[in-house]
Amino acid sequence: MSAPRMIDLITRKKRGEEMTAAELAWMASEFTRGTIPDYQMAAWLMAVCWRGMTERETLWLTEALVASGRTLEWRDDKPVVDKHSTGGVGDKTSIVLVPLLASAGHIFVKMSGRGLGHTGGTIDKLESIPGYRVALSVEELRRQVERIGCALIAQTPDLVPADAALYALRDVTGTVDCMPLIASSVMSKKLAAGAHAIVLDVKYGAAAFMPTLEEAEALAAAMVRIGEGARRRVRALVTPMDEPLGRAVGNALEVREAIDTVTGSGPDDLRALVIELGAHLMVLSGSARHLEDARAALGILLDSGVAADHLEKLIAAQGGDPRVVTDPSRLPAASEIRIVAGEASGWVERVDARVIADAALTLRAGRLRKGDAIDPAAGVRLLARRGDEVRPGQPLAEIHAASTEMARQAELIVRRAFRIGEERPAVPESPVVVVGE
Ligand code: URA
Repeated sequence: MSAPRMIDLITRKKRGEEMTAAELAWMASEFTRGTIPDYQMAAWLMAVCWRGMTERETLWLTEALVASGRTLEWRDDKPVVDKHSTGGVGDKTSIVLVPLLASAGHIFVKMSGRGLGHTGGTIDKLESIPGYRVALSVEELRRQVERIGCALIAQTPDLVPADAALYALRDVTGTVDCMPLIASSVMSKKLAAGAHAIVLDVKYGAAAFMPTLEEAEALAAAMVRIGEGARRRVRALVTPMDEPLGRAVGNALEVREAIDTVTGSGPDDLRALVIELGAHLMVLSGSARHLEDARAALGILLDSGVAADHLEKLIAAQGGDPRVVTDPSRLPAASEIRIVAGEASGWVERVDARVIADAALTLRAGRLRKGDAIDPAAGVRLLARRGDEVRPGQPLAEIHAASTEMARQAELIVRRAFRIGEERPAVPESPVVVVGE
C-alpha cells in the first residue's frame, strides 16, 4: 500500500467510514514517531467520538497500539494476573491490589495511566511517593518481577507508546469518553503486559466515562471480546461511580489512603472493592476455587501486614522511599489545609464525585492542559459521606491546597458537591454486574 495521508483518514472517519487494519497500524506507528501532528490526531479522535468504530476496527486499533512497542511474556509456573479500571474519582485500588495479589503468590505487572479528564491516574499518585520511578526498561521490569513478583509502571517508549501519546492528547481534547477509544486503550496495555487472567473494573455513573449501566455493560462486553480474541481469560465487574471511592481525592492523599487500606484499615468501600477484584482474579487465574475462599484469604493478607510488607518491597524496588508505608508523613503535604464546615443539619444524601473532581482540578491535583505540572499534595478529603448525619458547623471536608486563594476557590466547589436532606438516605445498593466468563 502507498502510505496513507492523515488528512484522508480524518475525512473518511468524519464520514463514518471504516479504517483498515493497515491504516490503523500506520497511524499508530507514525503518531508515535512524531510525524503526525497533534492537531491532525486530535481531529481524527474527535471524528471517532462522533462516528464510532466497528468491532473489528476497535480490535485492529488495539492491535496497532500493542504493536507500537514490545510485548511481555512471563513464566507460567505462577498465575499471571492483571486488572484495569476505566477511571474514577478517588480510585486508588491498584496501589493496594498489586502488592496484595503478589503477596498471595501471583505475578502482577500493572501498566497504569496518568489522570485522564476529571479522573485521577495511578501513575500521578505513585509519583507523589518520593523517588518512585514509574518508567522501567523491559530488562529492569523482568528483574524486578523475578525478585518480587510485581511492578506498577507507566507505559514506556518500549511498552504501548502509541497509547501513552494518544492518552495524553485525549485528556486535553475532550475525546476521553468514547467507547472504542477506551476499549482499545485499556486492552492494549493489558495485552502487552502479558497476563493470562484479567479483571476489568468498568465504572458507570455520574463521575464515570460511561454514565449509564447499559453503556458500561456494552464497554465491558467489547473489552472482554478483545481479550478473549487474544486468548486471555477476561472478566469485567461493572461498578458504580457516583461518589468518590474512599475519602481521599488527590495524589498523595490517595496514596496515604491506599497505605491505610493495605495495612488493614482504610475505608470500607475501598477495601471491599479491592477484595472483590482480587477474589475474581484468584478464581479466574485458578489460584482459588471459590470467591468466598479467595475473599477470606485476601482479608487475612491485608490484616496481617503481609500485603503491606509487599507494598514496601514494591516501592523500594522502584526507587521510592518505602518508609512511607510506616510513616506516611513522608509524603508531600499541603501548606494550606482548610476545613469546609456544614451549614445545614440533616443527612448527607449525596457527595457528587464529579464536583469533587472539579475541586481537585482547581487545586491542580490534575491537568487542564497537556504537560501541566500537578501538585502532588493537593486534593480533598471527605470528612462526611453519604448516609452521615451532620449539624451546622460540622466539618464536611478538608481541602489541601498550595495557597489560601486556591483553597477558597475549591471550598466554593466542594460545598456544591454535598446534598444535605432531611431524611436518612437508603443504603445504596452497590450492584456489581459481572460480564465475561
Ligand atoms: N483507562 C485507560 O487506560 N484508558 C482509557 O481510555 C480510559 C481509562
